[in-house]
Amino acid sequence: MDISFLNVDGITIPEPPPYKIKTVEFTRIPTKDERTKILREARYNLFNVPSEAIYLDLLTDSGTAAMSDLQWSALMRGDEAYASARSFFNFRKAIQEIMGYNYVIPTHQGRAAEFLFFKALELGPGDYALSNQFFDTTHANIVNRGAKAIDLVIEDAYDVQKELPFKGDIDLKKVEQFLSDYPGKVKTIILTITNNSGGGQPVSLDNIQKLGTLAKEYNVPFFLDAARFAENAYFIKTRDPRYADWSIPKIARAMFDAADGVLVSAKKDCLVNIGGFIALNDKELYQKIRRIMVITEGFPTYGGLAGRDLEAMAQGIREVLNEEYLRYRVEQVTLLGQLLDKNGVPVLKPFGGHGIYLDGLAFAPHIPREQWPSQAVTCAIYEQGAIRATEIGSLVFAEKDENGNWIWPKLDFIRLAIPRRVYLLDHIFYIAKNIVELKDNADQIKGLNMTYAPPILKHFNAEFELVE
Ligand code: F0G
Repeated sequence: MDISFLNVDGITIPEPPPYKIKTVEFTRIPTKDERTKILREARYNLFNVPSEAIYLDLLTDSGTAAMSDLQWSALMRGDEAYASARSFFNFRKAIQEIMGYNYVIPTHQGRAAEFLFFKALELGPGDYALSNQFFDTTHANIVNRGAKAIDLVIEDAYDVQKELPFKGDIDLKKVEQFLSDYPGKVKTIILTITNNSGGGQPVSLDNIQKLGTLAKEYNVPFFLDAARFAENAYFIKTRDPRYADWSIPKIARAMFDAADGVLVSAKKDCLVNIGGFIALNDKELYQKIRRIMVITEGFPTYGGLAGRDLEAMAQGIREVLNEEYLRYRVEQVTLLGQLLDKNGVPVLKPFGGHGIYLDGLAFAPHIPREQWPSQAVTCAIYEQGAIRATEIGSLVFAEKDENGNWIWPKLDFIRLAIPRRVYLLDHIFYIAKNIVELKDNADQIKGLNMTYAPPILKHFNAEFELVE
């Protein structure tokens, strides 16, 4: 791979990771002609591209981790009893020890936890849920119940270039204002750690704790969307000198102590391919969720998962707290960010925990917003190097007003999410090389016409054609 054209001055090559590779999965790069044809057949929606036609899959860091030998062997210990299986108690013990909550409810993934939680809270028309920034499924689960999802992340989060250590913080003044303006109407506050929609940016421990105090004052249940809790804890350790000497488990515990509970997609920091859970201390709410979930998820000790899945989560949530692992993880992502940034690719700063976010509007300024610039760049990245990224911008967040006109979100990103423990540094250089080459010819990228979109979560099923 010729990377001599890349400026590599001043980049930091990570120290090696605390693991080695025991098994490999073969991949291949389809030809340029194949890639062009596949894109057209996929109607320019990367979700429709068969994964066999992808060399490097950066669509998501969710459910894509490489499990460890200890997790694979834990699968064999799965107790598949329908009710009160040994695996459930192992799983619950791991969560209780790490998070400190009494009650633990497994769910098949994060959005199932969200669905059950909002239903149990009886969220409905006229109600509000507040967040720094809701992830799209969380947002959809709230809107689906007729309630409103309000994002109150600090204003600086919308400044792509501004380097702040904790750009995922919620604006506490705005939260307090909202709580006093709408008494009794805010049914929950959910802090997303790290803030996925805003670039994988961490939330400071101060912010979590102050929000906890505020929520208590107003008697509003305060939950963490803790999908990437370990990465958030690592950023607290490395970006806030007061916690430099604290262990990752101690920081994590301080985050959990400030909240009433968590909604978790285990497909991220629990290092598994499927799974999720709710953990909390409120017995009444817990019992309500248990009653509701039997209809859709299953009995409360398995929640739509196999016993072996619970074992893999129990092992994964312990492994993720390894500081050496987290350091390598974050430094690998940082390396990609530095390579792109130093070579003129517009990237969100500071670099987040689980991926690098390209600024789609700056990458392809010649494409008008009506032609979905970030989605167009995402397609071009695939055509360039068989790399699958995902649009996290207009396609995910734009909504129509009452006249049918699009309201465009402030941020328009292409996310390069890095799966955990999957790719090598060589892969990182391959990604950087291809994206820098593409950026150098970005004026050739064509816009897209949307030919179909469903009203909710449109990005999964939208279809496009090229603007010729
Ligand atoms: N919360 C956050 C912060 C997420 O990033 C996700 C999923 C969910 C909740 C929902 O969890 O997928 O297990 O149902 N994020 C994935 C992503 C899909 O690609 O960022 P799920």
